Amino acid sequence: MIKGCIFDLDGVIVNTAKYHYLAWKRLANELGFDFSEKDNERLKGISRMASLEILLEAGGLSFDNETKLALAAKKNKWYVDYISFIKEDELLPGVKEFIEKSKAAGLKIALGSASKNASTILSRLKLTDYFDIVIDGTKVSKAKPDPEIFLLAAQELGLSPVDCVVFEDAKAGIEAAKRAGMKCIGVGISSQLADADMVIPGFENIDLDILFCLA
Ligand code: BG6
Ligand code: MG
Repeated sequence: MIKGCIFDLDGVIVNTAKYHYLAWKRLANELGFDFSEKDNERLKGISRMASLEILLEAGGLSFDNETKLALAAKKNKWYVDYISFIKEDELLPGVKEFIEKSKAAGLKIALGSASKNASTILSRLKLTDYFDIVIDGTKVSKAKPDPEIFLLAAQELGLSPVDCVVFEDAKAGIEAAKRAGMKCIGVGISSQLADADMVIPGFENIDLDILFCLA
């Protein structure tokens, strides 16, 4: 029986992908190559450093570790500047209402995000108080598709993984949820999220009943 909902942040609660993209593209351009929105799709759900590796591979560049850390820090500074303007009207439609319904029904609520900026974003969106637990990129050592983030969220909620459902927009996140032994609802386009137990296009008009459809 589902007792807890674990939400990814980027792409599930708020569309930060466009800000990540702007910052990665700016870095690519500074390094002398272009980075398309299609290339950016490959970065969804994965960690900052793993994203940098993909970006550099796309540009045919390689650097030592120290330089890579500096490049990631530069991208993050731009990203943090962009998200400092995020407001509640950038919440994805219906998600806040869905979280409210889940809480009212007695379900526990956790965040399971790879982002090290998750707390800042939740706070800007005035969502912090809705979450019983926040597990983000500062609390884990292994990034999605490793299940660590979701297993830690379940443990801190005091729930067994089988009693948790994860909401995810990225392939890496769905794999992490399945490896954690949890149900997973994909948020987005079904053909891209085929490994999820169920896919919804977004949270608009989505009722809690969907949780009972998960066998
Ligand atoms: C994920 C995003 O939620 O967080 C990725 O989907 C991002 O695109 C990752 O790279 C890490 O985010 P941050 O904010 O720590 O750079
Ligand atoms: Mg995501």
